[in-house]
Amino acid sequence: MQADLEACLAVAAQTARDAGVVARRLFATRKPGTFSLKGDQDFLTEADGELERLIADRLAQAFPEDGFFGEEGGGEFRRRTWVVDPIDGTANFARGIPHFGISIALVCDGRIEVGAICDPIHEELFSAARGQGATLNGTRLTVSPTTDIRQATVELGWSKRRPMSEYAEMVARVVATGAGIMRSGSGALGLAYVAAGRIDGYAELHINAWDALAGILLVEEAGGSTNDFLANDGLHRGNPVLATNRGLREALMAATGIGG
Ligand code: IPD
Repeated sequence: MQADLEACLAVAAQTARDAGVVARRLFATRKPGTFSLKGDQDFLTEADGELERLIADRLAQAFPEDGFFGEEGGGEFRRRTWVVDPIDGTANFARGIPHFGISIALVCDGRIEVGAICDPIHEELFSAARGQGATLNGTRLTVSPTTDIRQATVELGWSKRRPMSEYAEMVARVVATGAGIMRSGSGALGLAYVAAGRIDGYAELHINAWDALAGILLVEEAGGSTNDFLANDGLHRGNPVLATNRGLREALMAATGIGG
């Protein structure tokens, strides 16, 4: 199993890196305004489809028995399934904002086993395998040591999948603790930043599995804490997510109302 996990991690990391090279080219050559909307504020670019096909082909070559599920084309869940977001932060990509990532996760028997997130613009590859730690470009990651919430920075993700009033109330509660807040438009990178200790927490009232799984494993393997995202069929339906360092877990659970 250990050797198998290492092989899966190696393929996930290389695939994310290679997709990142293509994403970087597509971002540099994209024509402004060339996107469509799947719904209000739900962006789609041609690059999403092209990258998802590339990633699906690579994973199928390496692991023909495994299931594949991608944000754009869907797919099929099997005992072992790769769950992929070809561009997380599509709105940023479409607008020319260089903050988006490729997220690849392997779920086996209801457990996240491998995660890789590539930020192609900054040439950063975050990766983790269960029990083996999390790394950024090969260097071991640890969540932040912050224990005073008045020094904390927390990303609060937003989408139209939950009422604005619920988001506004969560923002108000988190700000009232003394924490600083941000929203940068890529849940996958937000979670990776918690793993890297760049921010102290990431919370969102609903996020889909393809955006969140790789980042959740990164945070856990970097010594952080997460809610049970896969409970109540989170794999298919999505769920709230809360990922924090150890010191702020209780305070952020109370302020966001997520976890516990
Ligand atoms: C979105 C981003 C955003 C998060 C949303 C996601 P997409 O994914 O991760 O930061 O707040 O929940 O839907 O549409 O860019 O792949």
